[in-house]
This record gives sequence, C-alpha cells and structure tokens, in this order.
Amino acid sequence: MKKQSLFAVLLLCAALTGCKQTAGEQAQVPVYLDTTKGIEERIEDALQRMTLTEKINVIHAQSKFSSAGVKRLGFPDFWTDDGPHGVRPDVLWDEWEQAGQTNDSCVAFPALTCLAATWNPDLGRLYGHSLGEEALYRGKNMILGPGVNIYRTPLGGRNFEYMGEDPYLASRMVVPYVQGMQALGVASCVKHYCLNNDEEYRHQVNVIVSDRALREIYLPAFEAAVTEGHAWGIMGAYNLYKDQHNCHNQYTLNQILKTDWGFDGVVVSDWGGTHDLDQAVKNGLDMEFGTWTDGLTMGATNAYDNYFLSRQYERAIREGRYTTKELDEKVRRVLRLFFRTTMNRERPYGMLCSEAHYDAAHQIAHEGIVLLQNEGNLLPIDVEKAKRILVVGENAVKMMTVGGGSSSLKAQHEISPLQGLRDRLAGKVEVDYARGYVGDVGGSYNGVTTGQDLREERSAGELIAEAVAKAEGADYVVIFGGLNKSDYQDCEGHDRRSMDLPYAQDSLITALAAANPRTIYVNISGNAVTMPWKAQVPAIVQGWFIGSEAGYALASVLVGDVCPSGKLPFTWPNSLQEVGAHALGAFPGTWREGTGIIDEEYKEGIYVGYRWADRQQLTPCFAFGHGLSYTTFEISDLRASRKTTSDGNMSFTVNVRNTGDREGAEVVQLYIHDVESSVERPYKELKAFQKVSLKPGESRDVTLTIDRRALSFWDEENGDWKAEPGDFVALVGNASDNLPCQVQFALK
Ligand code: GLC
Repeated sequence: MKKQSLFAVLLLCAALTGCKQTAGEQAQVPVYLDTTKGIEERIEDALQRMTLTEKINVIHAQSKFSSAGVKRLGFPDFWTDDGPHGVRPDVLWDEWEQAGQTNDSCVAFPALTCLAATWNPDLGRLYGHSLGEEALYRGKNMILGPGVNIYRTPLGGRNFEYMGEDPYLASRMVVPYVQGMQALGVASCVKHYCLNNDEEYRHQVNVIVSDRALREIYLPAFEAAVTEGHAWGIMGAYNLYKDQHNCHNQYTLNQILKTDWGFDGVVVSDWGGTHDLDQAVKNGLDMEFGTWTDGLTMGATNAYDNYFLSRQYERAIREGRYTTKELDEKVRRVLRLFFRTTMNRERPYGMLCSEAHYDAAHQIAHEGIVLLQNEGNLLPIDVEKAKRILVVGENAVKMMTVGGGSSSLKAQHEISPLQGLRDRLAGKVEVDYARGYVGDVGGSYNGVTTGQDLREERSAGELIAEAVAKAEGADYVVIFGGLNKSDYQDCEGHDRRSMDLPYAQDSLITALAAANPRTIYVNISGNAVTMPWKAQVPAIVQGWFIGSEAGYALASVLVGDVCPSGKLPFTWPNSLQEVGAHALGAFPGTWREGTGIIDEEYKEGIYVGYRWADRQQLTPCFAFGHGLSYTTFEISDLRASRKTTSDGNMSFTVNVRNTGDREGAEVVQLYIHDVESSVERPYKELKAFQKVSLKPGESRDVTLTIDRRALSFWDEENGDWKAEPGDFVALVGNASDNLPCQVQFALK
C-alpha cells in the first residue's frame, strides 16, 4: 500500500475512533481538580486518591497555626490565625514568640462587644468582610473567631471578645459577620462552642445546665452562625459538658451541631483542648490544634507527631482498632474546607490596612459607643465656647490593642483618646492632661510591645491631687478609666476578681466630680463596672476597646460630630448581687474531689441578664438595650399585622420620629411577653430590632417581623421548640426598660 493511502487510512481511523488524545494535548484534568464538577464529587475523588498517612496529616496541626495540605495532590497547607478583632502577627513555626516580621501590622477593629453595641447587622457584615480581606492579604484561610459566648457574669474575662448577654442580639450580629468573611473564601471559626463562660478554670469546668438554658440562651448564636451563616468552622471549647471536653463531645458536636443543625464544616479544637484519642476519633473533632499548649504561651515543642489525631491514630487504624470510617468523615470535612478556601480560585487577593478598613473600624467604633448618662446635656462638648479641657486617666493614653490574650494585635496604628481629642480640637481648645491613676504599666504581650513607657513614681494621692488641681476652672473634665486587658482586667485566661474599678479610680472620679461639676467619665472596658459615683458624674460614656481608630471615634462622639447611637448589649448591674450567677453562688463552681474537675451548675438557668433583673424586679444601673442620643426620638402608633396568628408569623409597625434638633439613629426593640405558659418563662425576651437614622423632624414607619420560633420555648419533654397557643404581648421601645408601646395578639 502506498504511503499516501496508508496515511489516509490512519487519518480515517483516527477520525472514526473519536479524537484520541494526541501526546501534545492537555492531560485529562482529574475530577478533584475539575472546577466544573461539584465540590462533593471532587471531595470523593480526592479522598480515594489519598493515602492513610495523607489523611491523618490533614486532621492535625503541623505548626502553631497551620495544618498540612496534600503536596502530592496539590492541596496547599492550611493556615489559620487569630483573632476576632484583627489578624494576629505571625509567631514562629513552632514557638509562641513573634516571628519578627515587619509586614504583618494590621487594622485593629473594635472588640466584638462594641460591634454588638451598634445593634447594626450591616456593620457585622462590614466587619467580617474587612477582616476577611486582611486575612486574605496575610495568607490566612480561617480566622479563629468570632466569639459568641454569652455574657453570664460581669467578671467574665473574655466578655470583650463576645456579643453580650442576649442570644437573639448575638445571633443577628454574628450571621452577617460570618457571611461577610466567607463570601471572600475565608472561613470563620465560631467560638468557643459551647458554655465557655469562665476563664479562670476554663480547662477544668464541667458545666451543668438545663436543656432549656442551653438551647434558649447559650446555643442560639452558634445555631444561627451554622444554620443561617453557614459557618465553615466551629471551635470546640476547653470546658466540659456532661463530663466530656467540648473539643470532642458526643452531645454538643455529634448530636446537636452535626445532626440537629446539619453542620458540614470542620470542628477545630481549641489550642490544647484535645485530651483523649477515642473521644477525638468518635466524638466529632475534625482538626486538632495546639495539643499540649495552653493556647497562650507554653507548649511542648514539635509535638505534632504525638498529637492524638496523628501517628497514634494512624497506628491504631493499622492495628485494626479503628476502620477508616471516622477518619474519612473528618477528611471529607477538611477537604470541603479546602475547596471552600485554599482551592477556591475565585478568591480575591484581599488588602491590608486600607482606608476602607480604617473607615470600617471608625464606623463600627462610633456606632458602638454608648451614651449612658447625660444630665443637663453636658455632652456634646461645646467646641465654640470651651477654652480648656482637662483629660484625665491612664486609659486616655494607654494602648489597648496589645494584650487581652489571643486576640492581641500588632496594630499599624492606634489613636489614643487623648490624641483623638487633641487632634480634633487643635487650634480651638486647649487639651490638658493628668495621669490621674496608675494601672498597668506593662506594654507588651506575646512579644509585641506598645513602645509606651507608662512608669510613674508619684503616689495615687499625688496623682489625684494633681488632677484635682488641674480640674479647677476647666470647661470640661473628661476622665478615661476602666479596665485595660491586663490579667484580671478583661483578659483571656483569668476572670475579674471584682466588679469594681481597679487602681483607686473610684476615689479619683469622686474627687474630680467634686472639684468640677462638668465632669465626664468614659469607661474603656468590655464589661460592666460598679459606679458608686454615678449621681455625682453628669455624663457617662461606655467606650469599649475600640481599636486603631479609638481616639478619633471617641472624639467624634464627645464633640458631637456624630450622635451616639450605641445600645448596651448587656445589663449593667449595680452590683454582682444583682446577677443570677452570683446571687445563687453559681460562679465559679465547686471542685469535684480528686478529679481536677470543677462542676459549675448554672443555677440561674434561663434567667441571664435582663431576664434575671425582670424576674427579681431589679432596677439595674443601666438596662440592656439602653443608650442615649444627642437628639430625642418618639416611638408611637404600634400596629400589629393581625390580632391572631396560626403560624406565628407576625409583623409590627411603629412610627419613629426624631423630635430633636439634630440627626441621629435610634434602635427600635421588640420584646415578646408570653401571657400564660405551661412552663416558667422570662417576663420578656428580645425578638426583633432595627436601627433607623432620622434627620430632625423626620419620622418613619419601622416594621419588625417575628416567626413561630420567637414565641417558642425549648420543650424539655420532647426535645424540641414549642409555641403554646394563647395570648402574647409585643412590647416595643428603645430599651429593655423603656417599652412604651404594647399590643396583645394570640397564637391559635
Ligand atoms: C486560645 C483561645 C482561642 C484561640 C486559640 C489560638 O487559647 O482560647 O480563642 O483562638 O487558643 O490562639
């Protein structure tokens, strides 16, 4: 056969047998790398390609903050980082000490109590989005936050990292935060799941709590983060529940999280929260981090092969003690996390320290600042009339972004309250300063230093005398006091020992108020403090720990550039005796003989915060949801969509009018009261809210909706939510102790 005809025959064969790959063409893309396939199909393909050792390697840490990918298959290593308020500076591979990088300074966003105090879910989304962009730029695929543990006591060391006492408020604020972050391909790791309301004995506490309190108070924010926010990560807590550590807990992880709520993400241990191989295998843990560290400083070096879910697990499988059933389930979840993050080719590149992030930090900060008291409308500061202002207090100058535990940051900048006021009033008003008191002169945490030298030789009496002398004749005295994220003063690892202000601040405040009636106290903290001088201080502001833009945000509110619109996310008691956990002697717990476990029974049950205050008919120092403005609002004309409902869906409309002379924002709050129920219920519970900005004289109808869940309680008999037919009352107003509008309706 001639060459030409042979060639023609070959060509014809090739055409007939379909276009076979010629050597030069692209090799077939394997399914797990084929972005046209669904994630679940890609997971299964990757899973069956992985060796046992590769599977084991992806479910435990390989360094302080990273776990392995699968090099052979092209899955990158997986990097996590703290924290809820900004991206932590890098530490060394296997040391808690700083890596010493000069490219990892960040924007420090306000602490999450401040975010909660904005009562503005849009800012939750902005927060998650902004932090997610900083994480992307820093190469982090999972942020270890946000935290949504409930504010059970004002002594809680990490309350500043969380979103207050009410499960509904925390739920509404955490969902958009998670969504804003994950939209960028950065996983949230919502923490610390669950019942982690203590710091002092966080590794030993075994919480005993009713199912109702668990479901109605302590779980809803996590439930919302999972079922509405679709969080890709959950961090198990250190403490125990039903005698199992929460990093591997049959009840909270396998049953509630993964079965009841259908969580498809990864359960990450808290650092050092894994204690048992069999439980780690069977009780819902997917990624083990930080074993044999305390999550803060100490730790065994290069222990990664000795982790529970590491070589010993691999050995146990090879020896036939386990099949790969549990392992494959864990690896599926980790692969799903990879496809959502490191393998997500659509992810943007993020940005660090951008103007937009500073604007976001400023917006969240000033919308979260709460004007607690303003007798005689002393605030805002009259910039035109004032000649001299005296600023007093260590918290007017002390950096707050360093310290507090794992949420500590290396901020690119932090504007102090004194600097914020001086910058804002430059050329207009003299801003004098007096130290007033000495708190924590330390200026470093985990190797990050503030660079401040706050050492002071003078005694408390001399400092007070100096401040009082300078207060004479000042047009305003603005005291910045409170706590400071040092040990026992709002810091991870320890709870506060008292609700009182430390460092003799009460004496200072009392002396200054006596010396000058135009005294303003700004409290910098994440927790309530006692205020024995409240009647002597006309203006009181809750300033939170608000990060890089602190001074600018505080100045903008104090001088009236913006109207304060924050509302308290927790009840501000007059004393610990007004708090259920303390009134019932249920904090902390009692040591169980010879076990190293401390049993803590949450005896107050569902009566946390304003729920307790209502039950005991207490008048707190300031109420949950309280916050004043520089203008005034009227909420009126409450109308219900119907008198009866069969499915629980109701909407309520009120009119909100700005009856003052300047623009401001109000938070309309709706609480539900169950007139009659077969079980004891709180008098009222927050079930809807909306923030509305209005110009002077402007009015607007605001409509709030609820569903059946808003009428329900957790039925312990049937283990489900139950809404009993009968009468309910919707209470509407602008604070839990100011609900002028009420309307009754019935559930059929
Ligand atoms: C800490 C904290 C946790 C943090 C983790 C890593 O102990 O409890 O919030 O994310 O360890 O630093």
